[in-house]
Amino acid sequence: MSGVPQSNPQAAAQKTFYLETFGCQMNVHDSEKVVGTLLQEGYRQVETVEAADLVLYNTCSIRDKAEQKVFNRLSDYKKYTAQGKTFGVLGCVAQQEGEKIFERAPYVSLVCGSASYRKLPEMLRQLENAQLESAQSRNTTTEAAAPPFAVFEGWESMLPTSRDSSVGTAGKSAVKPSSRKPIADSLIRITGLDDRETDACFETEFTARTNPHRGYITIIEGCDKFCAYCVVPYTRGKERSRTSQSVLAEARQMADLGYTEIQLLGQNVNSYKDSEGKPGLRKSFAELLAAVGEVPGIRRVRFMTSHPRDFGRDIVEAIDAVPTLCDHVHLPVQSGSTRMLDAMQRLYTREQYLERIAWMKAAKREISITTDVIVGFPGETESDFVETLDLLEEVGYDAVFAFKYSPRPNTPSLKLEDAIPDEEKAHRLDLLMAKQREIQIARYKKYIGTRCEVMVEGKNEARSQYMGRTSHNKTLNFTAPPTATPKPGTYAPVVVTSSFPNSLLGELVV
Ligand code: 5AD
Ligand code: SF4
Repeated sequence: MSGVPQSNPQAAAQKTFYLETFGCQMNVHDSEKVVGTLLQEGYRQVETVEAADLVLYNTCSIRDKAEQKVFNRLSDYKKYTAQGKTFGVLGCVAQQEGEKIFERAPYVSLVCGSASYRKLPEMLRQLENAQLESAQSRNTTTEAAAPPFAVFEGWESMLPTSRDSSVGTAGKSAVKPSSRKPIADSLIRITGLDDRETDACFETEFTARTNPHRGYITIIEGCDKFCAYCVVPYTRGKERSRTSQSVLAEARQMADLGYTEIQLLGQNVNSYKDSEGKPGLRKSFAELLAAVGEVPGIRRVRFMTSHPRDFGRDIVEAIDAVPTLCDHVHLPVQSGSTRMLDAMQRLYTREQYLERIAWMKAAKREISITTDVIVGFPGETESDFVETLDLLEEVGYDAVFAFKYSPRPNTPSLKLEDAIPDEEKAHRLDLLMAKQREIQIARYKKYIGTRCEVMVEGKNEARSQYMGRTSHNKTLNFTAPPTATPKPGTYAPVVVTSSFPNSLLGELVV
């Protein structure tokens, strides 16, 4: 683990990779671990596709648009295959589409879901060996001049496989002639797709964190909630927690490296289950949160994402008891209508959700609350939607991430009737965002004149403003006298002087 990605100098000259990440923070952090793994395997990271031998996409399929972006990007880069570049698709689209990716983008050589990342070193070696063999057979056999072949059906069973990853090299002698199909270039296919039932997490000591001051730690992977609209349980596999010992060791290691802010990550951090130690001594999520907050050197701890069903009062008590735990909770509601929540299989009612909000509002510090909302879920009536608008008002969120419902493969809601026309979804989204904007304008205004501590994130030279983030997770940009030069990663007191719907502006207190 290190703040600045390092590569193995021996092989640095030979193998380069480019990695582009789509999607959520889980994907961003998975990419940091994938980068660390590749560096350890002797690859060097480059900034452009042009400069890379291996081009990887860590993909997202949470909504249709995210998935489409990946295929657009892949078709954009098709031209590079002639230059001998190797392409890999990682993450949720990889898991969801599986080997179909090879049909849609035949020049892809590696398809790997997130549940198989811990096998990446093995898969990379398989990829390299297969490439070597392919190059050798082109050079040394009489078949060399013949067009290479891709195998689209049944190729896995004919080629050497391990349980969770498999490799195929087009044109190998093991392949039956009947299943061969001539294509433009030699194809190699490595897959890591069969791990959705695994109990193992992707733990690595080689995480290449991109920010030297604040970093993520995954505490739980996968999801067992199966909300009716959500593809995550199918793409990220079943829920599995790391041990609290391993999480705390990583937190201490980060603190030793100078990190002061940690964000604990998981699709549903509240259902964290420690498997280490005697049953009575295992840590609940709230206890783990508090323990991370007590690691010497750590000044801020955040967590994402919470599920209302599993969100306990003990989390609010931990925030009350441990000052380093940030006063911000992201609690996705999805809808303000109990009828819709039931259809979405969210396992709570509007009233139960509001009960959790009441716990937070009774906390000693003001807790900033943010949420996710889906509009236009099948069957959502005007009055269901109005209940969502009312809920925004009642809770008073500091940010809302709102999405039009997007039907996803494999999910139960795919079969639901009463689809809402896209124009109506768009209309509801506009209304919701307009409403939330008004709420935020009023909420952010209240900060004017108050003093907040920010973590300095950098400087916007054009505006002569420093960028900062409050413990509430609000952006607070600020000016400072020329004599003061607040450094990224340091903490500074700022007085808020004006507000916008999504950010605050202030002056450094000197
Ligand atoms: N359509 C629209 N939004 C979705 N989300 C998850 N699945 C879908 C879907 N099929 C949203 C939820 C979730 C956030 C990460 O993405 O609001 O909380
Ligand atoms: Fe998806 Fe629901 Fe799991 Fe969140 S809790 S990842 S919305 S299935």
